[in-house]
Amino acid sequence: MNVVAIEACDPSDEDARAEAFEERMVSALNEGALMLMTSVGHRSGLFEAMNGAPALPCQAIAERAGLQERYVREWLGCMVAAGVVEIDGAADTYRLPTAHARVLTDDGAANMAVYAQFIPLLGGVEDDIVACFKDGGGVPYARYGRFHEVMAEDSGQTVLPALVDHILPLVPGLTARLHDGIRVLDVGCGRGRALMLLAAAFPNSRFVGYDLSPEAIAWAGAEATRRGLGNLSFEARDVSDFDRTADPHAFDLVLTFDAIHDQARPLNVLNGIRRSLAEGGTYLAQDIKGSSHHEHDRDHPLGTLLYAVSCLHCMTVSLAQGGEGLGAMWGRETAERYFRDAGFGAIETHELQHDIQNLYYVCRP
Ligand SMILES: C[S@@+](CC[C@H](N)C(=O)[O-])C[C@H]1O[C@@H](n2cnc3c(N)ncnc32)[C@H](O)[C@@H]1O
Repeated sequence: MNVVAIEACDPSDEDARAEAFEERMVSALNEGALMLMTSVGHRSGLFEAMNGAPALPCQAIAERAGLQERYVREWLGCMVAAGVVEIDGAADTYRLPTAHARVLTDDGAANMAVYAQFIPLLGGVEDDIVACFKDGGGVPYARYGRFHEVMAEDSGQTVLPALVDHILPLVPGLTARLHDGIRVLDVGCGRGRALMLLAAAFPNSRFVGYDLSPEAIAWAGAEATRRGLGNLSFEARDVSDFDRTADPHAFDLVLTFDAIHDQARPLNVLNGIRRSLAEGGTYLAQDIKGSSHHEHDRDHPLGTLLYAVSCLHCMTVSLAQGGEGLGAMWGRETAERYFRDAGFGAIETHELQHDIQNLYYVCRP
């Protein structure tokens, strides 16, 4: 037994493993810092200012973006060290290669700089989270200053471009019914951008959005008015007791986008959704793709990020309300069980090719 144990812990193996792991951690330090500075570049408009521009001196880039040269110079140093921006040392100029601009501005299919914002957003509650690790409880929504803004940007490029052509067709005949005119509810709608797109595309249908956040609802209402969308309304509403408060048979289609796993009372919400469906109605849910088992999420391409988002936001905002704290990585098996427990007898689970982060559930009573 002892011999085996000594062989298993061969010091040279352990040294090599430690060295390789240390290298990985050093690399992670750099990549983490890159995400912070990518967020800064997005919010300050630097990537957009450099997009399509020729190689320019720092001062010219700062002027294009309307920013302070000293800060821009330091940011450029970071971007050069990270290989994001090219430098011509002799000419003292900087250029954002077109291929990189496609990934870090709104020119490409998905702007990765949008997602980078989650790193500083979540870092902002680190003290609160460490306290929760010791004392329990959760971190309330109010502690996440920019959450609804960043979330709307995120779903604005994850959900919106796929909504009409890929997500709605998961329910056969739904697009035709939307053209004819049906009643649609989005629960946990945030800033309501999915509903705005639908309300404009299907003027004969009527759309309602509920969200807990008065701030998100105020933003959504003002934006819907600005766009002249008369078939769309929003209501600040806590759906924790939706099982009792939902209007029976009031909607032909209920949608949730990324909005069940962070609920305080997810089963109440799902029961309310079922109750609010009219005869022949459908519930279409997008939620985070995971397996409900850590060992199966080892190879998830976004596993590290999604568990971090869950711990630092989704799970804890639910716990802060005295809720279940399911978390973003509740996973397919748990999600399907919750849908069944809420009385949905027919559940289809779909994956979409464009989307490595979400599953799409089509549920009928
Ligand atoms: C992850 S965000 C998704 C927002 C939006 N669906 C999107 O995709 O951009 C979850 C949303 O659920 C809302 N929410 C959480 N608990 C709620 C509750 N008890 N009642 C109503 N909305 C709630 C949050 O305010 C938040 O806007």
